Amino acid sequence: MLAIYSFDKERLSLLPAGLDHIRMPSHIAVIMDGNGRWAQRRGLPRIMGHRAGVEALKRTLSLCSDWGVSALTAYAFSTENWNRPYEEVGFLMSLFERVLERELEALERAKVCIRFLGDLEVLPLRLQELIASATERTADNKGIRFNVCINYGGRRELVKAAQILAERARIGKLDPETIDEACFEAELHTAGESDPDLLIRTSGEMRLSNFLLWQLAYSEIHITDMLWPDFNREALVLALEDFQRRQRRFGGVE
Ligand code: FPP
Repeated sequence: MLAIYSFDKERLSLLPAGLDHIRMPSHIAVIMDGNGRWAQRRGLPRIMGHRAGVEALKRTLSLCSDWGVSALTAYAFSTENWNRPYEEVGFLMSLFERVLERELEALERAKVCIRFLGDLEVLPLRLQELIASATERTADNKGIRFNVCINYGGRRELVKAAQILAERARIGKLDPETIDEACFEAELHTAGESDPDLLIRTSGEMRLSNFLLWQLAYSEIHITDMLWPDFNREALVLALEDFQRRQRRFGGVE
């Protein structure tokens, strides 16, 4: 169950022994890989893996909320995922719709603030409506920020930001000399969100897959062989322990 605690003391009591509350990541990003393989290993159709993946995502969101993580960003559908079989893409779109319809009230109760990052205007209309309503209904919630990346691509996000700034310069509203990192960041889907401290990728693959290319510049990366639908409390604790052992220098020296 998701719980939002007004006192840090209460939240502290929920944190597993061995984790240091001072060194918790503020923002975790996840690449939820291995749904298809999870299903195939059980002789099930791939789509069953995506269904089980939703449960793993709910578990992860709930634990992150309980343990005081401020933001969770999940890669649900990339700009490249349209190349999957037509039936699988269709299933994923209706799965997103069903999950939003089914879970919105619980998310509201748990004070989750949900946002969707990506080019949303090409998504099925019903899904766009549900996204707009979920975004609006949870906008003022002060609990964990839950960012769901749908039709998201890191390169596309950067190209779009460049286009916006170039156009502003072309019409004389922006001096190119003044373009800095803050200017650029303000045009990304993640505008206003802190960069992830920790990226978790499941299924043992060691790549970024066009995810948050700008924002992950200094994130710590934890890769686990576990397939996403199996990702659970123990796996999250291991990822957090791994994170807490890292020395973050951001290019400097200790
Ligand atoms: C990658 O596994 C997973 C996806 C492309 C879909 C992830 C989506 C969910 C878990 C649903 C989330 C729902 C909401 C509403 C946020 P894969 O299919 O690439 O697995 P494989 O590498 O084993 O083939």
